[in-house]
Amino acid sequence: MQRFVKIFTHGCQMNDLDSRKLYSELAGHGYQPTEDDRLADVMIVNTCSVRQKAQEKALSTLGRLCILKRGRPGLVIAVAGCVAQQEGEELAERFPEVDIILGTHQLHRLKDLVADVRSRRQLRVETAFGDAIPSMDIVPDKDFLIPPHRAYINIMQGCDNYCTYCIVPLVRGREISRDHGAILSEVRLHAERGVKEVFLLGQNVNSYAGGMTFPELLKEIHAVEGIERLRFTTSHPKDVSPALIECFALLPKLCSHLHLPFQAGSDRVLKAMNRNYTHDSYLRLIEDLRRARPDMAFSADVMVGFPGEGEQDFRLTLDLIEAVRFDVLYSFKYSPRPGTAAAALVDDVALPEKRARLSVLQSLQRRITLENNKARLGKIVEVLVDGPSPRHDHQVFGRTTHNVIVNFAGPSSLIGSTVAVKVTRANQNSLTGELT
Ligand code: 5AD
Ligand code: SF4
Repeated sequence: MQRFVKIFTHGCQMNDLDSRKLYSELAGHGYQPTEDDRLADVMIVNTCSVRQKAQEKALSTLGRLCILKRGRPGLVIAVAGCVAQQEGEELAERFPEVDIILGTHQLHRLKDLVADVRSRRQLRVETAFGDAIPSMDIVPDKDFLIPPHRAYINIMQGCDNYCTYCIVPLVRGREISRDHGAILSEVRLHAERGVKEVFLLGQNVNSYAGGMTFPELLKEIHAVEGIERLRFTTSHPKDVSPALIECFALLPKLCSHLHLPFQAGSDRVLKAMNRNYTHDSYLRLIEDLRRARPDMAFSADVMVGFPGEGEQDFRLTLDLIEAVRFDVLYSFKYSPRPGTAAAALVDDVALPEKRARLSVLQSLQRRITLENNKARLGKIVEVLVDGPSPRHDHQVFGRTTHNVIVNFAGPSSLIGSTVAVKVTRANQNSLTGELT
């Protein structure tokens, strides 16, 4: 009998990759992915707890599934990921319909646990941290690569930095690197399957230590035939070494884009966050990267309203944004996370003030993003075509090396290839162009 699974994914690219691995594993055990709630025999909520809002969203999805289950007792519900890791068994007290609670180091056990729960109907809680994370070595089947020419690859997990606001070290554990041999075999396998772009993932890729350094790993992957583009995330500014900067000068397949979260522009706040760099050293780093690769584009994460952030501190954040001219900024209101050092501080920036700062920051960034896009008018850009344009018939879309989305008229047969496109219109969050 055909069975179906549906996964609800919250959170980061790492969670997205984890969900694809889970789909792939379960597909090997007879569970076909479905979008349809009514068809699903197994439903999984892959959760995020990085901000309070992310956690609330995940729990609200879970609440909805639990209500569904009251009318369908055969349904298996699993909670995976960061909230599962953090809350463990307590989740089952709040949501008694849940069958499986699966921490971030235990994802590889899902398929066995589903079979077990189906036969014994007993709650399973698996949240131990190990010295290895076996799910890092699960390679999703090619049906689970979206788009099929881009492979996201885990190279490390966890974080040893202990930024004071951040729950990641608590829910993903200490840094664990995947062996470089396993990573390279995965890259080669994807290249044979026709993958063009490799996207390396880890909470802190710069401290990769799986038998070689991160810059060495980049060079090895760069040499794999068939791979045309290489990207990675996330980097910590304090760990961007001269050897990594040199990679941008030496490795043409390495895309001209770096996501480099700065979080705040005030040295006082950065110190309270335990970030280990300053406003000026961050700007120097950006300069060094632009010297290695003059057309380098940047994106970043930033938050407003960290405890003690005053008006003057916030101004310094705006100054930094003006100085770097990011293409994209992911900006958040600070929220205290349980168990972190900052949770012990008074959350003293009032919510309306946080909202006001966020709104000022976001309108500044909107202006810069549009100006950056306008500066690209008339240029010829190389676009790796990802798929049909979601909004326009007979158009396709893809990304430039700068990670900017370009829509243009063209046949779907272009998907997966890299084409030269002339930029004809600059929009707020994308470009429009024509094939040359
Ligand atoms: N409050 C608000 N934003 C946070 N982030 C991490 N922790 C918090 C928090 N407690 C943001 C940071 C990080 C991104 C993934 O989420 O900007 O880079
Ligand atoms: Fe969210 Fe961080 Fe966990 Fe990713 S690692 S799902 S961002 S808490």
